[in-house]
Amino acid sequence: MKRIGVLTSGGDAPGMNAAIRAVVRTGIDNGWEVYGIRRGYSGLLDEDVVPLGARDVGGIIQRGGTVLGSARSPEFMTKEGRQKALQTLDNHQIEALVIIGGNGSQKGAHALSQMGFPVVGIASTIDNDLFGSEISIGVDTALDVALVAIDRIKVTASSHRRAFAVEVMGRDTGHLALAAGIAGGAEHIVIPEVETDPEDLAAVIRSAYERGKPHAILVVAEGARYNARELERYFVEHHEQVGFQLRITILGYVQRGGAPGAYDRLLASRFGAVATERLARGEHGTLIGLVNGRVTTTPLSEVAANKKPLDHELLKLAHILAR
Ligand code: F6P
Repeated sequence: MKRIGVLTSGGDAPGMNAAIRAVVRTGIDNGWEVYGIRRGYSGLLDEDVVPLGARDVGGIIQRGGTVLGSARSPEFMTKEGRQKALQTLDNHQIEALVIIGGNGSQKGAHALSQMGFPVVGIASTIDNDLFGSEISIGVDTALDVALVAIDRIKVTASSHRRAFAVEVMGRDTGHLALAAGIAGGAEHIVIPEVETDPEDLAAVIRSAYERGKPHAILVVAEGARYNARELERYFVEHHEQVGFQLRITILGYVQRGGAPGAYDRLLASRFGAVATERLARGEHGTLIGLVNGRVTTTPLSEVAANKKPLDHELLKLAHILAR
């Protein structure tokens, strides 16, 4: 092998730059040339390809976002789009690709792999919903950002004896919300995987009020059936049911934009190194992720076909700790 490519795709996640840097520098260490593809799969379609040397990835390990840029490309989802992508790779004599991203990106990786192109994926999404990795690049930093907000919200909530619904990202899953809720000491966590109606939540908040709590914090996943805005509407009308007044905060993109912490920098560096190591061994069609604390690979076919299950032990723990 002489030349590999690297791209970041889908929602950016803190630590993507550390992964790019690791792929470039370990690739160079293998004697390869490394090319960056800008703006994810869109760059493959537009031939937006740049050579990356060791110096080009200097000073980026501490930066959030992705220096290569990212995108969601509907054109790449079509067969014609993917053929165009393969043509770009051929034009630039790129023999293998490292794809850093979450679910949609790894489905794209699987599609390229099925067309016979050597691909290795790296698990990266703040949603933490990727099958084949107990934690993805970006999750730890996104959680830290959420916790700074939750800790501050608790201060003002206690001063006014209020309840807060704090909405976190996670697309249609509750992995991020569950972790943020436990680490943030929430009274309740509202996630899409567990059916919860506003009357149940009213009972939870009322009970916290009657137990003398100074506040009640609900961590709400954006994909939950009742998100923060809907809960606000409900609790304005049913204020007398709950004791506390309810306010909401939607954290949104703030969680994605943080500078990567130590954990994400290390994880991304390890994932990037293992990606090139596996390619050097002639292994591809896999996702690099963390399983039982070890950096390991899972076939992209399994990643594309499976939904990551929610950790029900964590859910049980969340209920016990919310007394
Ligand atoms: O997948 C990461 C994520 O931030 C989700 O949590 C969120 O639902 C989505 O991306 C937002 O996507 P976009 O950046 O396209 O608005």
